[in-house]
Amino acid sequence: IRLVILASFYRSKDNQFNLTKHTNMKKIILLQEIFQCKLEELSPDEQEMILKARKATKGSYSPYSGFEVGCTIQLDDLTIIEDGSNYENAAYTVTTCAERVLLHYLHVTHQTEKIIKIAVTAKHKSEGVDYVGETPVAPCGVCRQSLKEVEDRIGKQLIFLLDGFNNDKIYRVIGIDSLLPLGFGPASLGMTVK
Ligand code: THU
Repeated sequence: IRLVILASFYRSKDNQFNLTKHTNMKKIILLQEIFQCKLEELSPDEQEMILKARKATKGSYSPYSGFEVGCTIQLDDLTIIEDGSNYENAAYTVTTCAERVLLHYLHVTHQTEKIIKIAVTAKHKSEGVDYVGETPVAPCGVCRQSLKEVEDRIGKQLIFLLDGFNNDKIYRVIGIDSLLPLGFGPASLGMTVK
């Protein structure tokens, strides 16, 4: 009985050890840089991407969540691919996010390797009323993973523009590592992909 008590005493101490006693461990600080700006501070092409992404929310099929997401992608010839929006399903997990709808479109049209910038926005619609967030939309984990594959294939940092229908608060992010630190990718498997 004494042993058991001792073990649980040390277990309960574990959290304190993590906080105070492990300062001799090497601390690795990962850099995540997000630049917050106003719409007007962005270049004209990036402003256009955001405005078109906002427009793309109109195409969202989201009867279950009412969360309307819009996405645009710019290619290296500066063309803007429009009309990415989320596509829901009564079996919720079948849903595809706006980002991946557009990524898959670019895959089937053989344009994935041309991607340079991605803009995403969202608003919440409920009973016909729009609720616009103060904070830009945060792409889900699955989309971040999917976007990492694109960046790794291309071998160049992508630019991400995150919006929430608020002209005063837009996030501009350079490179997927700032959205998906310590990400798992082809390099984790010792591979490079094209
Ligand atoms: N959604 C996106 O389209 N993109 C994101 O990055 C976040 C979430 C969609 C999926 C679902 O249709 C709705 O938003 C609510 O999760």
